[in-house]
Amino acid sequence: MKVLVVGGGGREHALAQVLSISDGVSILSVMAKKNPGIAALSTDILIERETNIPAVLKFATSRRADYAVIGPEAPLEAGIVDRLEEQGIPCMGPVLAAARLETDKAFCREMMDRHGIAGCPRFRTFHDAPSAAGFIRDYEGDLAIKPIGLTGGKGVRIMGEHLDREGAVAYVRALGGKVVLEERLIGEEFTLQAFVDGKHVVPMPLVQDHKRAYEGDEGPNTGGMGSFSMPDHSLPFVTDHDRERALGIMEEAIRALGSAGIVYRGVLYGQFMNTARGPMVIEFNARFGDPEAMNVLSLLESDFFTIIEHMVAGTLSKRDVRFKTSATVCKYLVPEGYPEAPVSGEPLTLIRDPRALLYYANVEERDGTIYTQTSRTLAFVGVGDTLEEAEERAETAASAVKGRVRHRRDIGTRDLLARRVMHMQELR
Ligand code: AMP
Ligand code: GLY
Repeated sequence: MKVLVVGGGGREHALAQVLSISDGVSILSVMAKKNPGIAALSTDILIERETNIPAVLKFATSRRADYAVIGPEAPLEAGIVDRLEEQGIPCMGPVLAAARLETDKAFCREMMDRHGIAGCPRFRTFHDAPSAAGFIRDYEGDLAIKPIGLTGGKGVRIMGEHLDREGAVAYVRALGGKVVLEERLIGEEFTLQAFVDGKHVVPMPLVQDHKRAYEGDEGPNTGGMGSFSMPDHSLPFVTDHDRERALGIMEEAIRALGSAGIVYRGVLYGQFMNTARGPMVIEFNARFGDPEAMNVLSLLESDFFTIIEHMVAGTLSKRDVRFKTSATVCKYLVPEGYPEAPVSGEPLTLIRDPRALLYYANVEERDGTIYTQTSRTLAFVGVGDTLEEAEERAETAASAVKGRVRHRRDIGTRDLLARRVMHMQELR
C-alpha cells in the first residue's frame, strides 16, 4: 500500500515514522522543503508547496497513492481532501466543508452557538474595525482577539496578557476588523485529539502544549514549544468528569456538522481551557497538533495503517486504538530569536542520543549538516515510566545540540506541573 504523507514538519515526521512500521506500507511524501527525517522514510518525494493542489494530485495519481494523510491545515483549507477523494484516493483528513471547524473561527463559534454545544465562550464576530473597536471600548472585562482565518497559532492576542484596551483597539484595526472577540478564559489548557471516522470519536491521551516562547510561560505565542503527557493518559489538573465533558463536546461538534450533511473524517483536535466551570473550547483544529502529535504517536501500540483503513471505512472502534501507558515529554529546539526574529542558516552539531526520539522539523540539510530555518527546528521526545524520566531524556538530548538554538527547559518538569495543579486548585 502506498500512503502519501502531506507536510514537512515534526508532526509529519512522526506520522511517517508510525506508518513506516506498518507492514506492507510504503511512503510517498510531499513537502515544501525537504525534511531529512521524512525523506529517509519515503520511497519517493515531491518538493512542492502542500497547497499546490494540481501538483500534489499529479504526484499522487502518477505514483498510484492508495491513501493520503494530511498533516497541516493549509492544504485542508485549499481543498486537498476533496480533490484527492475525487481521484479515488481516500484521506485521513476532513473535506473542506468539515475543515472549516478550524479554518473559519466564526463558522465554528456560530455552529457551537446554534446547536447549544457546551463549552462555547461568549463571543462576537466582526467584519469592520470601527464596530470591533467600539465593542472593545464598551466591554467590561478582558477579551481574546482572534483573526477569523488561519494564522499558524500566532495571531491570537489576549487583553491583560499581551495588550491593554487601546492596544487591543490598535490590533483589530491592523487586522482590518475581521476578528472574533471572545471572553478571556482563565484556567489551564489541555489538548484532546481524537480519530473520527465520520461517526465514532476515538480519543487519544491528553497532552499539554506550551505556546509561549519563554520559560515560565512568558513572551509571545508560538506554534508550540513542547508538550507532555502522563502515563494514565490524563493530566493532574483535569478530572475524569472534565475529560468526559471535553470528549462529549467534540462528539456534539461532529454531530452538528453531520446534521448539516457534512461528514468529518480525520483527526479532530480540541484545545480546551479547563476553567472553574469546566472545559471550554479555545479552538478546534482539523488535524493533529504539532507538537502534540509527537507525544501520542510515540505511544501508539496499534497499527497506524489499520486505524487509517477503519477511519476511511467508518468502522473505527476503541479496540483499534491502543497507547502505551508511559509519560512523554517533547521539547522543540527553535532558532535564537524565534518567533520574532529567528536566525536562519545556522549550522547545528547533533549528537544522536538513543534515549530520546528525534523528529526533524524546519531544517535544511546540506552535505550532512543540519541548518536552522525560520521556524521550529528539531523536536526531541522522551518516553518514560514517569514524567521525570521522560523529561530527563528529552532534556538531555535537546541540550546536547550545539548551535544557535534554544528550547524551554521547564517543559515537563515537576515544578511547572505543580504550578499548573495549584492554579487549578485556586480556581475550583
Ligand atoms: P489559538 O491560536 O486559538 O490556539 O490561541 C492561541 C492561544 O491563545 C491559546 O493557546 C490560548 O493560550 C490563548 N487563547 C485563545 N483563546 C483564548 C480565550 N478565549 N481566553 C484565553 N486565552 C485564549
Ligand atoms: N500545537 C498547536 C497546534 O498544532 O495548533
